[in-house]
Amino acid sequence: MVKVGIDLISFYTPSYFLDLEQLARVRGIDPNKFRVGLGQEKMAVIPPDEDIITMAADAGARVLQKTDAADIDLLLFATESAVDQSKAAGVYVHRLLNLPSRCRVVELKQACYGATAGIQLALPMLREGSAKKILIIAADIARYGLKTSGESSQGGGAVAMVLTRNPRILSIEPESGFHTEDVMDFWRPNYREEAIVDGKYSCELYLRLVQKTWEQYTVLSARTFSDHARFCYHVPVPKLVEKAHQCLAKLNGLPKLSSAEIETQLGASLQYGRQIGNCYTAALYLGFVSLLENTAVDLSQQRIGFYSYGSGCIAEFFSGVVEENYRDMLDTFYHQKLLDSRQALTPEEYERFYKFSYPTDGSLKNIPECQPGRYRLTAIQQHKRIYTTA
Ligand code: HMG
Repeated sequence: MVKVGIDLISFYTPSYFLDLEQLARVRGIDPNKFRVGLGQEKMAVIPPDEDIITMAADAGARVLQKTDAADIDLLLFATESAVDQSKAAGVYVHRLLNLPSRCRVVELKQACYGATAGIQLALPMLREGSAKKILIIAADIARYGLKTSGESSQGGGAVAMVLTRNPRILSIEPESGFHTEDVMDFWRPNYREEAIVDGKYSCELYLRLVQKTWEQYTVLSARTFSDHARFCYHVPVPKLVEKAHQCLAKLNGLPKLSSAEIETQLGASLQYGRQIGNCYTAALYLGFVSLLENTAVDLSQQRIGFYSYGSGCIAEFFSGVVEENYRDMLDTFYHQKLLDSRQALTPEEYERFYKFSYPTDGSLKNIPECQPGRYRLTAIQQHKRIYTTA
């Protein structure tokens, strides 16, 4: 069977963050709750002149530096932070990235599962040859109410991936376990800016479904736990990922994994997420970039297990095998510089960004220039979003 999968991958996150120690201080919470209890250190903060479209364009531009944009015939944009009920966010990105006019563009939504849906829809098209190169961009802003228990699990960013035949980073295997269930663990009605969440219930579902989808996946693939060198999970908070991995080990009859085993099997995949926070549809794939870029040993020909979870809910477990010379395709230096050059906000500055409001009456609002990124949301006028490229 022809190989299909991820040929290129890159991420973008804005140039501001809030240290959770600072958040703990102003909310009167022990900082160890965030650092130890949730495994989270910082969260990305999105300035007023960035949104899912600018972040997606920034991530997309990086991968398009290494491939011919004229070959992209489908752009799938996964998000749950949509800016419009009708127009797909990807259509703005299509222009900002100068993609060919013979390119289909569509937006996908199912909470954090959207990008996985995109991948699973793209693979058969590549196998059968009805698409040549598919650009999948996952971009989100995780936003909960100020002073709520979800506040520390905010964040944001975008991951762009080019999927092709004979990919140079990861060949995705056809077997996968998936499960849908109509539940209310996390949702955001159209009239709300912030998600509503039943936090504990959402964690229970995340843990129950990793087991269900794994069982299905192993029956279909006949693979065992030890056939996987590393694991990448959707990362709402790193501590939940570690719990899920322990559940999977237990289900496979293994004793409780030691911290060293957890570190080997998961550690590198969580490094970027600890600094950025949840970025919903992008979080699993940010974890994959983090794994590849922060693992010292060569992962060529190693199998990676992937667990995708989107509230509401749909979950999926699938796998892929890392290609030889994958390191030549990575963007490690750029990503580390992006993270190292971010500016720390005070809690007051974070709240000012959080409370920035956009007009809803058609009036003109010029958005202050806050960030050095290549793409900016410069104004909103007559209900239209105006984007510029530096
Ligand atoms: P919470 O109520 O803030 O925290 O909820 P908690 O009281 O449960 O404490 C968390 C852990 O910290 C506990 O450990 C405490 O013991 C520990 P555990 O019992 O779980 O092992 N702790 C401490 N440890 C050390 N020193 C201390 C200390 N104090 C407490 N001083 C929760 C946490 C994640 C639920 C909350 O942040 C939340 O609601 N977040 C948003 C929802 C979420 O992330 N859910 C995850 C699963 S759903 C999902 O992944 C989908 C999602 O991405 C959305 C989508 O699909 O679109 C969210």
